[in-house]
Amino acid sequence: MSALAQNTRQELTDLEVNADLLDAYKGHVPRHIAIIMDGNGRWAQSRGMKRIKGHHQGAHSVRHVVEACRYLGVETLTLYAFSEQNWGRPQDEVSGLMTLFDIYIKRERKRLIKNNVGLKVIGDLERLSPKLRKSIAELEEATAKGAKMTLQVAVSYGGREEILLVTREIAKLVEQGKLKPDDITEELFNSMLFTASQPELDLMIRTSGELRISNFLLWQVAYAEIFVTDTLWPDFDETSLLEALTSYSQRERRFGKTGDQLKSGEN
Ligand code: IPE
Ligand code: IPE
Ligand code: MG
Repeated sequence: MSALAQNTRQELTDLEVNADLLDAYKGHVPRHIAIIMDGNGRWAQSRGMKRIKGHHQGAHSVRHVVEACRYLGVETLTLYAFSEQNWGRPQDEVSGLMTLFDIYIKRERKRLIKNNVGLKVIGDLERLSPKLRKSIAELEEATAKGAKMTLQVAVSYGGREEILLVTREIAKLVEQGKLKPDDITEELFNSMLFTASQPELDLMIRTSGELRISNFLLWQVAYAEIFVTDTLWPDFDETSLLEALTSYSQRERRFGKTGDQLKSGEN
């Protein structure tokens, strides 16, 4: 067992993870992982079930993956739960998903607190019901103290919308004379995004085989490694996560430089 895992194991309780499998992993652990949790509908439909059943099954994968990431020492996990564009789905699916978020918030409360996972919900929360917003705010507050991993859940989120939001804020500051156009730097922009206080995104995973980003973390994905698996989200487990991490560990992240520059330790 790695020293990291040993420490972590002592701090964590009742994990729903296969710890032996996680201990066997010897590769790099990304600081920030984002997941496009896709394929719930297909998972259910292929079993003759309603799509909403697939979303409920997907919530179990969320618990597993959150706890596995926490165990491995990931600092931030960002999960795409509902996009801005998903509001356009049939009304019964949208309301079923909103009910599921409410259930998740109530059901996972104890586990998140016990395992020191801090919840943060990102996106256009104004579109959620006041009741759901209130439960989210309460759980965010309850899990903030002593958090060892941040779980960012993107709900009513769109990458373009996030960039527009920051752009409007910046334009207002310029209009008010509080900012000069030359002061608009990458750092400033970063500091105004939903992900402001999180480490750079290292790895983006998409399930269900779709080779697209679907409006997720468009700014942040710039130099993230991308991993796509055919596994549908409700079937995603520790083995699937370790498959993604193993692939990540084998990548050479060049950030525009040459492989030789990296080998010679030039920065
Ligand atoms: C992802 O699963 C969850 C949400 C978008 C809310 P889908 O519901 O997109 O499942 P598929 O892609 O139709 O199988
Ligand atoms: C992306 O999945 C959004 C989430 C996983 C929440 P979609 O199923 O909405 O993406 P598209 O429509 O296939 O691009
Ligand atoms: Mg989908």
